[in-house]
Amino acid sequence: MYYPDELVEEVRMKNDIVDVISGYVKLTKKGSSYFGLCPFHNEKSPSFSVSRQKQMYYCFGCGAGGNVFTFLMEYENYSFLEALKFLADRAGVELPAQEYSKEARQRADTKAILLEINKMAARYFYAQLKSTGGRHALTYLTERGLCNDTIKSFGLGYSNKYSNDLYQYLKSRGYKDEYIAQAGLISVDEKQGVYDKFWNRVMFPIMDVNNRVIGFGGRVMGDAKPKYLNSPETLIFDKGRNLYGLNRARTSRKSYFLICEGYMDVISLHQAGFTNAVASLGTALTAGHASLIKRYVNEVYLTYDSDDAGTKAALRAIPILREAGISAKVIRMEPYKDPDEFIKGLGAEAFEERIGKSGNGFMFSLEILERDYDMASPEGRTAFMREAAGKLNEFEEEIERNNYIEAVADKYRVGYEDLKKLVGKAAVQSGLARPVQRPRVLKGQEKEKEDGIRKAQKILLTWMASDEAVFARLYQVLAPEDFSEGLYRTVAGLLYEQYENHRLNPAAIMNHFTDEEEHREVAGLFHTRIRELSTAKEQEKALNETLIRVKKHSIEEAAKKLDVTDIAGLQKLMTAKRELENPGKLHISIN
Ligand code: GTP
Ligand code: MN
Repeated sequence: MYYPDELVEEVRMKNDIVDVISGYVKLTKKGSSYFGLCPFHNEKSPSFSVSRQKQMYYCFGCGAGGNVFTFLMEYENYSFLEALKFLADRAGVELPAQEYSKEARQRADTKAILLEINKMAARYFYAQLKSTGGRHALTYLTERGLCNDTIKSFGLGYSNKYSNDLYQYLKSRGYKDEYIAQAGLISVDEKQGVYDKFWNRVMFPIMDVNNRVIGFGGRVMGDAKPKYLNSPETLIFDKGRNLYGLNRARTSRKSYFLICEGYMDVISLHQAGFTNAVASLGTALTAGHASLIKRYVNEVYLTYDSDDAGTKAALRAIPILREAGISAKVIRMEPYKDPDEFIKGLGAEAFEERIGKSGNGFMFSLEILERDYDMASPEGRTAFMREAAGKLNEFEEEIERNNYIEAVADKYRVGYEDLKKLVGKAAVQSGLARPVQRPRVLKGQEKEKEDGIRKAQKILLTWMASDEAVFARLYQVLAPEDFSEGLYRTVAGLLYEQYENHRLNPAAIMNHFTDEEEHREVAGLFHTRIRELSTAKEQEKALNETLIRVKKHSIEEAAKKLDVTDIAGLQKLMTAKRELENPGKLHISIN
């Protein structure tokens, strides 16, 4: 953090979170909070809440949450400093310029310059496309079926045949070579000097979720190689964390995305009304892409090319998506190569039908596996079923595994019980044998317990943050050290500090964290759903049960870490334990 905490806090306090978020999301008051449709995932009924009292937002659907800074970081893709600057401006707070660390300032400045250069280049390419010199490029795009509106809304362009005119243009606008090179738009060669990277190609500007141009793809208009040339990764262009078309797809309000391979596929699909199509940027789908997708939808349809490479890419993507909690279905494009050609050949309605008929990702991977076996012979089928059984073991959760065993048994006409036995046998053979399985189950139980404890701690934090009277009572019997090490304990410590200074202010706690993921988690700590308990008596009972649970765990953890020679420590723990067992002693009452 480069600004003093007090200043950050001043900016935050002068920007009421309900006012700020209202500028982006339609909010309706419901009880003490405001609710609206979550801008970070797709939903039909509002689970996105904003609290004026806590000065935080939290989505009960997707877990997005934080304070007013986090919101802008997530929504506008701002860095913390950018969000701070924006909100300072909004509230008329002047930020002292010298407070920037030199390095942070340079980085932010460079980013801003690269974005400007890219925007200018995109405009230049577009103007070239519309000029007489770009007529053949425009014809190329039109002949590929794109209408003028589509060309305009995707900002397509043309890089002409002069080898350095973009460079000259950008220079004439005052940009230094250093930055133009950093934007990836020129190559600097000792012998040939400086020349444009893109030359005689139709240009596809790549935008981030906030419609800022971060890079380009350029396609030759004939058969020359390479067919596509893409911008290199730069300070503003991270291929693993951006998807082509996401800026538009994220507002499509469909519950799933169509993921395809090429720029042209995305554009054709959008033109045909499938505005939820995205593509990775000439790279394989990564875990980073998956978590980006997960912000908006829980389901995707893969519309990869029907060739070998496309099939392989789909097979690789399915487990990556599954890992992120996204279910994948596969749309078969046969007899066409890709969605673009399919739509041209059979039209949007037929494509819609294919979406309806698309199969589950796992079943698709089995269909591909069939190709390796002679499915007409008993030996071939048996060997195939053995391999399928091995794959079924990849589902760790028993219910899910059994559902798939049932689906596979059904499809390949074998008995459910027989296949289940085969899956068990495959588990033994692959080393997932039963003795190994036991600790696995235990691990699951342990995790469940851990989750339960964390939930209990969250309930206490949520309660304390929203009710000072409860805090006063808990303060007597509960310390920050009773919370789990790491984020929970740090946050509890900060909350206690605020309470001691008579300034309970959970949203300010976030100023201590710079990472969006941490903001999300901190917001989650203060937004645990506490069951609606009508009577004070019920509330008291729930609070005491939760308290005892947290205390008990804290004593157990302390005991684990205790040095055997620490007699005083041991005695202290014993006393604490006794108090815990004596219900009268620890009991706290509300009101
Ligand atoms: P069209 O032939 O224009 O229809 O292309 P396409 O969109 O069908 O692309 P294709 O399936 O051939 O490739 C998918 C994606 O991979 C493209 O959008 C590019 O991002 C990338 N790609 C394709 N060819 C090349 C290449 O030669 N070099 C690089 N770097 N990327 C490529
Ligand atoms: Mn194509």
